[in-house]
Formats: sequence, structure tokens, C-alpha cells
Amino acid sequence: MISSVITSGAVFLISLFQALPIAAFPAASKIDGYSIGDITWEIQTSPGGPVVNVTGTVQEVIKYAEKVNPNFRSDFTLD
Ligand SMILES: *[C@@H]1O[C@H](CO)[C@@H](O)[C@H](O)[C@H]1NC(C)=O
Repeated sequence: MISSVITSGAVFLISLFQALPIAAFPAASKIDGYSIGDITWEIQTSPGGPVVNVTGTVQEVIKYAEKVNPNFRSDFTLD
């Protein structure tokens, strides 16, 4: 998976662990009208726990979530 994505302002919903990408930061793109940027995901790190913004790839977001909640995968049945 690449660390950047092409965005068009659309909102993507990942139902796996209820993460909602909320922002993409503009960068140069070779496609008119589109930009390339990192995605910020608004995620809940544990059931009933705090909601935080994490910027990066989905792999980086999961890595962060596992760091703050070692039970993240089992809490959200990702395994
Ligand atoms: C995450 O960022 C968005 C956009 O800036 C903001 O509206 C939202 O309140 C933030 N969420 C948290 C948990 O900080």
C-alpha cells in the first residue's frame, strides 16, 4: 500500500474498526483537480475509549492504535 492517496474530497468510511478519514492535505498531483496527501483518520482506540486523530496510512494508524491499546485488534475483532 502506498503512503499517499489521490483524493477528490470524498469521505471514505472503513467499517473494519470504524475509522473515518477526515482530512487530506494538498500536495502536487499530475491529475488536474486532484491532490495527493496524507490522510488523517478519526479513530476510537478502545471500545468506549477516546476518539483521536491519527495521520498516516491505515497500517500506521493500526500500529498507533496497537501501541496505545495492546488489545486493539481483539477489541475490534480485527483478527
Ligand atoms: C479531528 O480533526 C477534525 C478536523 O480538524 C476535528 O473536527 C475533530 O474534532 C478532531 N477530532 C479529535 C478527536 O480531535
